[in-house]
Amino acid sequence: MKSFFGYPGGKSRLATRFVKQGVFNPVLPITEYIEPFAGGFSMGLTLLKEYGPFPVRINDIDKDVFVLWDVVLNPKERNELCQKVMSFKPTLRDFAKVKSRILADKDKCRFHRTRVERAFDKLLVHKLSYSNMGEKAATHVGGKSQRADDGTPKQWGFDVRWNPAEICKAIVRVTDMVKVQTAGNFQVTFDNVFDLLSDISPKTLVYLDPPYYVAGDKCYKHSFANNGDGKRPTNKHEDLAKALKGVKWRWLMTYDNAEAVKKLYPGQCAEVTLNYQMSSAYRAGQSLKPNTELVISNFPPLLKPFTNENVHV
Ligand SMILES: C[S@@+](CC[C@H](N)C(=O)[O-])C[C@H]1O[C@@H](n2cnc3c(N)ncnc32)[C@H](O)[C@@H]1O
Repeated sequence: MKSFFGYPGGKSRLATRFVKQGVFNPVLPITEYIEPFAGGFSMGLTLLKEYGPFPVRINDIDKDVFVLWDVVLNPKERNELCQKVMSFKPTLRDFAKVKSRILADKDKCRFHRTRVERAFDKLLVHKLSYSNMGEKAATHVGGKSQRADDGTPKQWGFDVRWNPAEICKAIVRVTDMVKVQTAGNFQVTFDNVFDLLSDISPKTLVYLDPPYYVAGDKCYKHSFANNGDGKRPTNKHEDLAKALKGVKWRWLMTYDNAEAVKKLYPGQCAEVTLNYQMSSAYRAGQSLKPNTELVISNFPPLLKPFTNENVHV
């Protein structure tokens, strides 16, 4: 199931495919579910719809992601947010304005904003941004000039994804489904993953989608690239692998296909082809470049269906 806000590295299509292939069958029924790197929460939404009801905790260290989810799951604030969406008509300047407000952690004005205003900013910046990249995008949809190389206006303007009625419908569809399928047992937190992993019950299923190894810093305000606390940076990808070693609960993880990741999880990685990228080789008439991700889990029977997988999703 698609989230109501597009997110870099969102996994909605992969989630549908996992369900079709019965990837989670060995761990059914799901009795508790945690997604520590939630973003748009697309894997969990699909699992809830397909295999719910079960209690859920989603977590993301990014406070803006947290606030957005917390607001839409509160009926009064969800209404306020939808009213704001319905009455707002973005201008070309809004993307840059909101992007800098979100990136400027020390901007005092930001902390005087209400939760609904903050949730609105996060939603808006993702809807206007190029490739759903949110505040990490260099520009909005259609580029700065909004014109093609030949000077004609671009077919897709900066506000092409700002369709208030559709956005509100999606918010309601997603949050109503979540409430029914969790019987109201839904928690949103903004912890650091390393604090969260030490306290998980053995009956829990955990889906992990950490920041990309190679491009994480370009995609997310919080990646694993630095500690942000002035201490000597550690390799957090390595720390995550250590934290997952020998745990009693079941986990499945997706990662970008980097050699360094394969080294962290020897014998546990399977490659899955997501789609085919338009590369310069393609434009030169050669074949398309497959875009692959790694699937890693501590329940080995799952690895089989992915081997030599090349289905286009
Ligand atoms: C690959 S994205 C998740 C995308 C998500 N699966 C989806 O479908 O939209 C990784 C997320 O991890 C979050 N993150 C980064 N460092 C974190 C940390 N130390 N603890 C918890 N979350 C973190 C980022 O804010 C980002 O939202």
